[in-house]
Amino acid sequence: MLVRIAGVLNAGEVAAVRSRLDQGRWGDGRVTAGFRSAQVKSNLQLPQSDPAAQEAADLVLRALERNAVFISAALPHHVFPPLFNRYEPGMGFGNHIDNAVRHIPGTPHRLRTDVSATLFLSQPQDYEGGELMVEDSYGAHAVKLDAGDMVLYPATSLHRVQPVTRGTREAAFFWVQSMVRDDGARTVLFDLDNAIRKLTATDADADSLLTLTGCYHNLIRRWAQV
Ligand code: NI
Repeated sequence: MLVRIAGVLNAGEVAAVRSRLDQGRWGDGRVTAGFRSAQVKSNLQLPQSDPAAQEAADLVLRALERNAVFISAALPHHVFPPLFNRYEPGMGFGNHIDNAVRHIPGTPHRLRTDVSATLFLSQPQDYEGGELMVEDSYGAHAVKLDAGDMVLYPATSLHRVQPVTRGTREAAFFWVQSMVRDDGARTVLFDLDNAIRKLTATDADADSLLTLTGCYHNLIRRWAQV
């Protein structure tokens, strides 16, 4: 499933992240690309070791921890420390699928990429092109969101970033190893959680709500790998 989450960062937080990024030392984005991806990738990235990037990543991680929609949709087990990219005119990233396993920098740990995330940091009117195109069995979906909004999509998806023809597109991107590996199972859980939340806001029958909530937790018990 493809999930758009509005307002992961508010305007002040976007400005705080971007001011850190302005102090960073941007380099060639191909450093984190696999062999084939490197041939179609043209963008700039901040090195993970850059102190400005680490501060910005911490701001994003704190926002994710308090975002109920992110937690419900991704059911995170491990979150890769966010990375940052910048596309200037002429830059883009052709069709690719993200690497399945990532080494978490500075740790002995590896993460299986179940969910891919892009958090938009530039306002859409500030650049031309730069849509994230995510393919699924229903075709290609163009995603271009307001600054502070985020999209989650299955890391198994073929995707690309359309060339930027004007302005600058900055974004944070990262991956999640989910407690629930299967996208179809996560979708059922997300739908169920959303329905329970909505019913809770009404005067729905309390016993039925309790049963549904029990079903939610018992499905997680069946499917979660922790
Ligand atoms: Ni990618």
